[in-house]
Amino acid sequence: MNTFSTIAELTAAIADAKSAKKSIGLVPTMGALHEGHLSLVERARKENDIVAVSVFVNPIQFNNKEDLEKYPRTVENDLALLEKAGADIAFTPSVEEMYPEPVTTVYHFGPIEEVMEGPRRPGHFSGVAVVVRRLFELTQPDRAYFGEKDFQQIAIIRDLLRQMNSKIELVPCPIVRADDGLALSSRNMRLSKEAREVAPTIYETLQQAVEMSEYEDVEDVKLWVLDTLASFHEVNDLPNGLRFEPEYFEIVNDTTLQPIEKWDDAQGSVGCIAVWLDGVRLIDMVRFR
Ligand code: PAF
Repeated sequence: MNTFSTIAELTAAIADAKSAKKSIGLVPTMGALHEGHLSLVERARKENDIVAVSVFVNPIQFNNKEDLEKYPRTVENDLALLEKAGADIAFTPSVEEMYPEPVTTVYHFGPIEEVMEGPRRPGHFSGVAVVVRRLFELTQPDRAYFGEKDFQQIAIIRDLLRQMNSKIELVPCPIVRADDGLALSSRNMRLSKEAREVAPTIYETLQQAVEMSEYEDVEDVKLWVLDTLASFHEVNDLPNGLRFEPEYFEIVNDTTLQPIEKWDDAQGSVGCIAVWLDGVRLIDMVRFR
């Protein structure tokens, strides 16, 4: 595996791969890699001649300074995992290398960014789009791999590719979960032992919601999920004032991301949730139809 921290090195290697007519799969990451990321690398490995993985904590997609500062950084370990997973290129640029000048570009995505994460994290998706577009331009991938845990992000990238008139194939990949059901996330490593033990309740609640959707209407399922998590600490004896604080739970059309009112409103529907636990913001999603 070649590790590059400069754009010059990366683009030279990409030029070589292109002239040898090799296909390129890109896995953009912010590091602190776990099995979820490695599943993307594995899939990219199967489908491409060259697998490039970026490891870059993108400051312009954080609307919260503390979240950026606390974001786990484990580059040495990340590189060892990538080497083992069979990546060919690891790109680990500095902030100055990626953004030599202040970023002035702002992306708009219309209704798909006006729900869920969008209004709660102003500027987040524009920041994601800026870095992902730059990574697309630098690595010129045939395919790009993203995890479905960030379900809304996938819709944003799909729209970005449309705006770019790009032929890059977007490959959404299923969530990887711990044995107890918690969706793997780099943020999980910030949970205390007690919080980590109780965190699988999020997915358990989502699974029960899917069962309820067979006989309850959308609004009732939605309210039940929010209420079950918000009152969990009252019904269960949680230590140290631990509690779930749901930020949102929306049941949306899986393409337009607009909330649905009846199950028949969309051919495909998913439930997306953001919950605070122990000062950590966790997100997850589940498919209803
Ligand atoms: O999903 C992430 O880790 C990030 O949003 C991404 C796509 C790597 C852009 O920084």
